[in-house]
Amino acid sequence: MNPLNHVAIIMDGNGRWGLKYKNSRNAGHKAGLNTVEKIIKETIKNKIKFLTLYAFSTENWKRPKKEINYLFSLLENFLISRIDELHKQNIKLKIIGVKNFSSKLNNLLNKSEKKTSKNRKLQINLALNYGSKFELINAFKSLKKSNKIINEKNLSKYLQTKNIPDPDLLIRTGNTQRLSNFLLWQLAYAEIHFDKKLWPEFSEKDYNKIIKKFKIIKRNFGKI
Ligand code: IPE
Ligand code: IPE
Ligand code: MG
Repeated sequence: MNPLNHVAIIMDGNGRWGLKYKNSRNAGHKAGLNTVEKIIKETIKNKIKFLTLYAFSTENWKRPKKEINYLFSLLENFLISRIDELHKQNIKLKIIGVKNFSSKLNNLLNKSEKKTSKNRKLQINLALNYGSKFELINAFKSLKKSNKIINEKNLSKYLQTKNIPDPDLLIRTGNTQRLSNFLLWQLAYAEIHFDKKLWPEFSEKDYNKIIKKFKIIKRNFGKI
């Protein structure tokens, strides 16, 4: 059985779900938050130590302002209402990406990270304003400045995922088969599952099925 230490998820399909059932993309984002809560619970049940959630990409700034504002207001409300509970559950929150939001949201994110920094049950990495190419370019720049030799180990120290093991499993919902600039370096050996379901309709059962399948896959890492 393969150990499963880190699951990464591209939570895609909110907009389409919202349009289909509520005639509003934003309603889909709201519904997607319920799935986030369910999947966090299930991740803990499965004793998985790291969960990385792609919530907003560097490319998502190209969306209409109304949708972007709504997304960040959802996040703000989520943190305000849920951070104490996450903390009680011994969950550590880490943001990967560049925190260049409103000062209110930046403060809230920093406070949430600080509050939960010593928690040990599950680490949730929330990818916000995250882009893998940007992350890699910065890492190479810093590595060059440091004059250390350029190798995998040294490079990974300058990634935003420093000290986080690479994902074992990547799940993308929303019936789309692409990486959309997510963890291009870190996913080098991940098992990848593309799911047809839209994120708001993705269930615990779907998640557990994928985990079960992952556990029995033969992972070679180049060997035979
Ligand atoms: C993913 O859902 C969430 C974010 C990118 C914030 P989408 O909003 O991309 O949903 P679709 O792909 O348009 O349905
Ligand atoms: C990827 O989804 C980003 C997140 C889920 C946050 P997108 O919906 O933005 O990806 P593309 O643009 O369809 O590739
Ligand atoms: Mg999408």
